[in-house]
Amino acid sequence: MLSELEQIEKNALAALNSTQDEAGLMEWHVAHLGRSAPIMRVFDKLGQLAKEERPMIGKRANEVKRALEAAEAERNGVLHQAALSRALQSERLDVTLPGRPVQHGRLHPSTQTLRKVYRIFAEMGFQVYRSRDVETDEYNFQLLNFPPHHPAREMQDSFYIAGDHAEDNALLLRTHTSPGQIRSMREYAATDPKNPPPVRIILPGMCYRYEQITARSEIQFNQVEGLAVGKGITFCDLKGTLSDFARRMYGAHVQIRFRAGHFPFTEPSAEMDIECFVCGGVGCPVCKRTGWLEILGCGMVHPIVLQNGGYDPRQYSGYAFGMGTERITMLAHRIEDIRNFWANDMRFLQQF
Ligand code: DAH
Repeated sequence: MLSELEQIEKNALAALNSTQDEAGLMEWHVAHLGRSAPIMRVFDKLGQLAKEERPMIGKRANEVKRALEAAEAERNGVLHQAALSRALQSERLDVTLPGRPVQHGRLHPSTQTLRKVYRIFAEMGFQVYRSRDVETDEYNFQLLNFPPHHPAREMQDSFYIAGDHAEDNALLLRTHTSPGQIRSMREYAATDPKNPPPVRIILPGMCYRYEQITARSEIQFNQVEGLAVGKGITFCDLKGTLSDFARRMYGAHVQIRFRAGHFPFTEPSAEMDIECFVCGGVGCPVCKRTGWLEILGCGMVHPIVLQNGGYDPRQYSGYAFGMGTERITMLAHRIEDIRNFWANDMRFLQQF
């Protein structure tokens, strides 16, 4: 029996040494330490042995079993190491290779332009006033001096949410940021109705128009509205502020000009152009050969609008302006298709 145990141990250890991988080791385990392995059969047979033989054989069988278990654990470690170093050999690491660049998130080009505009106006003492995206027909049009059937309404075809055209309470997505003029003036005036405080704000936000989507027009776009109301504000203040804005936005030497324009909520109204920065004013396809690029609409706040905002037009005056920031971004980066802004195409967005 003792020599049988020696043989069992020898056989098992020899077999163990020839295992080459994890699978081989598993097979070995079943064959040499599994339920019907030779060593286990020795335990089964202990009962049939003579009483005096039993302790000695039993002890030896236990030793062999433990020795096999220990040898298995050691072999497992050896095979594992070998596998690791094989992997290291085949997947050799070249530590001199440049690292993979980290993918950074970035700000949308419209956001970048908006922030630049905020910064410039902040330096001039303007605060940001946020107004709502969903407006009533009354605020979006009527209080801004658009009469019910004014043709300018058709210039701004609207997404109506509830009700219809020219009903005071009809709801629509704002077609421009100008209704924020009324909301902000009313809020300021409410703080001191007899002597309303001056207003100096910009109103940024998304606007919506029910239009055919083309390379030049989108159904949603950002505008930044500006509003300054106080005593003794003149067209000079308007021109000075917007000229300064243009220089800070486009460079100290940029040429600007004001042209007469028309908006129902301002009187007089104007449009501001800057010298085409593509051709320097000579004329090119970007400026349609005029040498000028239209940047914004502006004017002196109409007395009716001041009145609707809670400011007495006999004592107060003000100016307002509005610009589309996608247009500004398109001009600055020579982007030719406005649809890029909301297409979420990484190839476009990663360029900014
Ligand atoms: N609301 C006008 C538009 O959407 C832009 C505008 C023009 C705003 C003149 C103004 C302004 O405040 O004075 O086209």
